[in-house]
Order: sequence, then structure tokens, then C-alpha cells
Amino acid sequence: LSLKPFNTFAIDKKSRFFTQAEDLDALKGSLMWAKERQLPVLILGGGSNVLLTRDFPGLVIKIELKGIEVIQETEEEIWVEVGAGENWHEWVLFAIKQNWAGIENLSLIPGTVGASPMQNIGAYGVEIKEVFESLKALNRDTLNMETFDGEACQFGYRESVFKHELKDRYVITSVVFRLQKVPRFNISYGAIQDTLKQNGVKDISIQAVSDAVVEIRRSKLPDPKEIGNAGSFFKNPTIAFEAFENLKAQFPSIPGYSVENGVKVPAGWLIEQAGWKGKKIGEVGVHAKQALVLVNFGHGDGKAIQSLAQDIQNSVNEKFGIFLSPEVNFV
Ligand code: FAD
Ligand code: EPU
Repeated sequence: LSLKPFNTFAIDKKSRFFTQAEDLDALKGSLMWAKERQLPVLILGGGSNVLLTRDFPGLVIKIELKGIEVIQETEEEIWVEVGAGENWHEWVLFAIKQNWAGIENLSLIPGTVGASPMQNIGAYGVEIKEVFESLKALNRDTLNMETFDGEACQFGYRESVFKHELKDRYVITSVVFRLQKVPRFNISYGAIQDTLKQNGVKDISIQAVSDAVVEIRRSKLPDPKEIGNAGSFFKNPTIAFEAFENLKAQFPSIPGYSVENGVKVPAGWLIEQAGWKGKKIGEVGVHAKQALVLVNFGHGDGKAIQSLAQDIQNSVNEKFGIFLSPEVNFV
């Protein structure tokens, strides 16, 4: 089966076997089926953060576990358990409709709820770790359910334990979020403030912040329905304070903001300065409005994206001495 409709890069690679898991029993059954045949398994949500570089020789399981359930509430807060197969943006819109705050800055991020803890998705000053209570996951080896709290997930910038020590060991089946009934807005990003002002918003609301975020994102990120992509291809690197000062002497306009252990530099700036923005190499390239986004113009191959990514890494490293690590998961 072609996986083209199941990855937002729209890479035309095949899987040997494919199934969708709509409930826990189906998920367990599929895992056992693959184990008996010693087939590798690939868990897929919305396919919006993967790069397929080859055909998959085993079973692809697309997670379709649904459901949204309130499990606890106080005057100020509400705890909601959401199935891993729910669409992330639809869940955000649902929460906004109920007047629950906390995830409005994460509007329009593609993919599923189940994948959101994988890389602790983030945008416009908010990461899911801030509203995360716990998750349930199926141990792929024992087929037992286990619960992980925030500490066990070891969240970092675009990181969690599920990308490292526990890689390919669990299927996340639901996530519990702790949302606010009394909103605490985060409009620290200048772009949000500017857009709210442009939109003539006087009384800030959850809906108004979400609308602003959607507007900003639409102005620079390509819609995967039109141009294949997986959002930011690389992570924004953090470099030592001294290294940043040295670069600043050479490139006075280099942007950067202080974080715990150094200075975070926007990878999009580095890639643009290295001359890649808007470049087209055959069927693949670098988005003209956001240099951090690699794109497939239609019939591009995963290997071509991979090789473009390597060329970009080399050129940024040569010019700035900074190594860019991919955010996207290679398959
Ligand atoms: P998939 O791509 O299907 O899977 C990603 C990884 O998680 C794979 O390794 C997969 O095996 C694993 N996985 C998926 N579901 C499960 C599960 N239930 N259990 C165990 N493992 C699982 N990300 C951000 O953080 N911030 C952004 O602002 C952002 N903007 C984006 C904009 C665009 C246009 C695009 C295309 C992507 C963007 N992304 C962003 C990346 C992407 O949306 C997120 O990483 C999202 O969480 C991926 O969800 P998914 O369901 O598509 O995951
Ligand atoms: N920039 C350029 N040229 C470009 C792109 C960016 O010079 O072509 C510079 C500008 O200085 C700009 C700065 O980079 O001010 C930051 O750009 P932007 O606000 O577009 O954000 P980003 O750092 O490129 C990050 C996340 C996004 C997230 C946005 C908003 C990473 C790897 N990416 O992008 O997440 O939506 O901030 O918070 O951290 C994703 O992870 O897939 C993703 C899209």
C-alpha cells in the first residue's frame, strides 16, 4: 500500500502491511500479529513529522483511538482525557469552544493528540508539557497498559523519553491535559501582540489568541495539502554564549535569545543566510517564506529530501560552525 496519503511530505513509499487501530483490542491484535511474523512495526498518527526514505518492510499501524472525556474539575481547572487518534487542531478547537484555556497557542499544529507528547509539541511560547498531566501507553513488549506522568516523560525542547530510551517501546493511547477555566494568556510573542492589534482585539480571549496564531502560521507555513512538508525540518540550535559573541562580531545581525545553557539561534536565519531560502532542487526544495521548512513540490523522493538536508547541514556548519539536528523522524 502506498503511504503517500498518510504522510504530509507526500512521499510515495510503500508499506508491506497496513492497518488502522480504532480500539485497544485491535491495537493489541495487530501488534501480536506482527510479532508472530517477526515483522517490524511503524506507529503512525497524522504522519506530519516523519520522512519516509524507503519502503517499510513490515506493518504500519495508524492510530485511530478516539474519545474526549472530562475526568476531574475544580473551580479553576479541568482535567480532560483525549484519545491518541483525535486530530490535534480539532481538539484545540473543541477546548476553545468549551472556554478551556492553555492550548490556544498550539492551534493549527497538524497531527494527532497521541503524537503530541513524543516531541512535546510547542509554538508561540507554549509547550504541551505545561498542560500535560499524564498519558496512557501500551507496552509493545508486554502488551500491558502503563501510565506516565510529566516527569517520566522527560520532556525537553522537541524531546521526550519516547524519542530516546523508550524509542519504539510504547504506543501512546491517550493523554490527560490539565486546562484552565480561568485563562492565563501567553502573548509574549511580538507577532501575537501585533496580530491582535491589527485585528482590533480590545478584550483578549482564548478565541482571539487562537485566531491570531492561525493567521500568523498561515502567512508563513505551507499547507501540506498544497505543498508536502513536515513543518520545521531542524531544531533551533543552542550554542555557548561565547560562541554566540564570536559569531555576533562576524555577523552583527545574527538573532539569538538567551536560554538556560547558552543562546538559542533560529535555524531558519542560518539556513537563509547560507543561501538556501526558496531554492528548488528538482522536485524538492526550501520553502520561500520559511527557510526552516523543506518541501516536496509533488513527486519528490524521501532520499532527495534527506540529501538536501545533509547539504544544508554541511553548508550551515561551514559558514557558522553550527550543526543542525533534525526535528523530523526518519523512517
Ligand atoms: P507522526 O508524524 O505520525 O509521528 C511522529 C512520531 O511519533 C513517529 O516517530 C511516530 O512513530 C510516533 N508516534 C505517532 N503517534 C504515536 C503514538 N500514538 N504512540 C507512539 N508513537 C507515536 N510541531 C511542533 O511541535 N510545533 C509546531 O508548530 C509544528 N508545526 C508544524 C507545521 C506543519 C505545517 C507541519 C506539517 C508539522 C508541524 N509540526 C509542528 C510537526 C508535527 O505537527 C508534530 O510533530 C505532530 O505532533 C506530529 O503528529 P503526527 O500524529 O502527525 O505524528
Ligand atoms: N528566520 C529567518 N528566515 C527564515 C525563517 C526564520 O531569518 O526564513 C528567523 C527570523 O529571525 C525569525 C526567526 O527566525 O524571527 C524565528 O522564525 P519563526 O518565528 O518562523 O519560528 P521558528 O524558530 O522558525 C519555531 C518552531 C515552530 C513554531 C514556531 C513558533 C522549531 C524548530 N520550530 O520556528 O515549530 O511553530 O517557532 O513558535 O522550534 C515545528 O516544530 O515543526 C514548527 C513549525
